[in-house]
Amino acid sequence: MDQYRVFGNPIAQSRSPFIHLAFAKATGQQLHYKSQFVEHGEFANAVNDLIALKGKGANVTAPFKEEALAIADVLSERARLAGAVNTLTLKDGKIYGDNTDGEGLVQDLLRHNIELRDSNILLLGAGGAVKGVLLPLLAQNPTSITIANRTVSKADALIKQFNDGRLNACGFEQTVNQAFDLIINATSASLSGNLPAISSSIINSKVVCYDMVYSKQLTPFLSWAKEQGASTVIDGLGMLVGQAAVSFAIWREVKPEVTPVINQLKKALLES
Ligand code: ATR
Repeated sequence: MDQYRVFGNPIAQSRSPFIHLAFAKATGQQLHYKSQFVEHGEFANAVNDLIALKGKGANVTAPFKEEALAIADVLSERARLAGAVNTLTLKDGKIYGDNTDGEGLVQDLLRHNIELRDSNILLLGAGGAVKGVLLPLLAQNPTSITIANRTVSKADALIKQFNDGRLNACGFEQTVNQAFDLIINATSASLSGNLPAISSSIINSKVVCYDMVYSKQLTPFLSWAKEQGASTVIDGLGMLVGQAAVSFAIWREVKPEVTPVINQLKKALLES
């Protein structure tokens, strides 16, 4: 049976095996997919071991996404610009590297019927998470994407690198009173229970607020946005399943349905 892995450190928390095995069942695909803890410095060996097993592919999570980029023989444009690879495909003696995070986000937004074309988007953060989603978001033809970051120089560096007239960089305080259709929290602040220091003046009932992370309760950013009057708040569970679906489609050439898997994960999260 075709072998797949998700490599990470830590990895025990990964939902990827559950998601990919659910996709395989739903699409009638025969495959093995399991998580593998990889010691620091052992990533290349882990990939080579999978190649020796005639494995077909792997997902890659923290902290190995940059190493995965370096090890790939062939890179997709979106992986190159993201500076990170989350999907390796092992084919014809070559390692192909791709990054499906941004497409996972875009597909989740579209699944929620959020209009991206001609929209004004605010991205909070300027780390790997933002870099990974810029190209797929730009491909949806928004009017503008503003990257606001605590450390403004990082946002500046990102827009220099992407060199697209629709991109702006600023600090959190400069977003005051601007009009956005969609605000995406891509900072890691939620993970430590913190909020990016943005003004409530940019929240209203029409603006959609999205957090790339998810948790059992609303994330700090989404619960704050709701308190400030946002009516649509969405967490990153759909993005997680979405990026997996794009990886699965690359490997198996069949696109799985995401909604049933998102619902199963939501149920498991609420029961945990
Ligand atoms: P990731 O790969 O998840 O994007 P990262 O590259 O370490 O992780 O980037 C983390 C992002 O979250 C950065 O934009 C960081 O802001 P700085 O560049 O100023 O460090 C942002 N971040 C982390 N904690 C934050 C907080 N409490 N408030 C605001 N931004 C925060």
